[in-house]
Amino acid sequence: MPFLADRLARVKPSPTMAITALATELKAAGRNIIALSQGEPDFDTPPNIREAGIAAIERGETKYTVFDGRIELKQAICGKFKRENGLHYEPSQITVSNGGKQVLYNALVATLSAGDEVVIPAPYWVSYPEMVLLCDGEPVPVSCPQNNGFKLRPEDLDAAITPRTKWLILNSPSNPSGAGYTESDLKALAEVLLKHDQVWIMTDDMYEHVVYDDFDFKTIAQVEPRLYERTLTVNGVSKAYCMTGWRIGYAGGPRELIRAMGAVQSNSTANPCSISQAAAIEALNGPQDFIAKHNLLFKERRDLVVDLLNKVPGLHCPRPEGAFYVYPSCAGLIGKRTPDGKTIEDDEGFVRYLLAAEGVAVVHGAAFGLAPHFRISYATSNEELREACARIERACRALQ
Ligand SMILES: Cc1ncc(COP(=O)(O)O)c(C=O)c1O
Repeated sequence: MPFLADRLARVKPSPTMAITALATELKAAGRNIIALSQGEPDFDTPPNIREAGIAAIERGETKYTVFDGRIELKQAICGKFKRENGLHYEPSQITVSNGGKQVLYNALVATLSAGDEVVIPAPYWVSYPEMVLLCDGEPVPVSCPQNNGFKLRPEDLDAAITPRTKWLILNSPSNPSGAGYTESDLKALAEVLLKHDQVWIMTDDMYEHVVYDDFDFKTIAQVEPRLYERTLTVNGVSKAYCMTGWRIGYAGGPRELIRAMGAVQSNSTANPCSISQAAAIEALNGPQDFIAKHNLLFKERRDLVVDLLNKVPGLHCPRPEGAFYVYPSCAGLIGKRTPDGKTIEDDEGFVRYLLAAEGVAVVHGAAFGLAPHFRISYATSNEELREACARIERACRALQ
């Protein structure tokens, strides 16, 4: 009898972690490495939020809490959904977990039976298909190429839906492409979803606040209230509030689903960290002005990277609406030869060459289900981004 569960054989180790591990190894060996593979803001958690965490420790809030979040935090989340998204949820419709990642995982564990299908627009965040596989479901990736703005078209959604489709996962703005769905994009998808009432929508709005150029963020239950009863609206404090290490994510949705997700969580991790919950209350209820300040810096970095990469022969880099990633195409480099005579066969070959030749760590597009591309996280200083782009340009120009 094999020791490891059968389902594990279907799950791949995280490709983003593999490239990060390789970069760390090269760094330890003394190489000068620039890692543009990290998926988190480089800013510190704002001081008022840090202080709220410290105050919670001092008040002795260091015990178990309700397994899916304190009522005060659920109320703050209801306030956020009402204020920012026009969505009405009662606290009994809210769940709080150890990061957005656990929210998504709980929902899939709670709802997927073997063979249930989950439609995932590609490029996608690497964890979606792996989570579906861990829950014995079937990921159904749908290609959303650059000429569709990396967004799901209604006709492609319609074609992907079968009687076994349980969920559609939407992520806007997207990791890895930064693409954001407008209200009319969402309305068009909603028209299709209204025809298929077996399909639920898991909308991952983690990058809601990281948007540029007056992009007007909307979430699908707000745009089409008839989908409210089968939508799980997922969000969290990790990205907008620079709190990746605090591990707080949350969702609003129908009571029955929220209760089922609670059953999963109460028997696995139980409550998210009590101190982080206090900090998250301050994040949601406190001043929000730093978000716009961060976005100005992120926008400057986005424009810097897009402009520099578009000067490089063989690369084409669209200017995304949000998040802190760009997803350039390297189609123009496939088939070229490196100075030591190797052929660049695909985007993974390209990113390995980039790391070996110039010490720049990025993640290949195949990892996100759409090649040949690569993902750059620009959540780092302008100086480092300038140097990284200069190295990328040198590496590309050295290809024949
Ligand atoms: C699209 C997307 N969803 C969810 C998450 C998970 O967020 P958290 O750190 O809150 O678990 C991430 C983190 O990288 C993400 O990029």
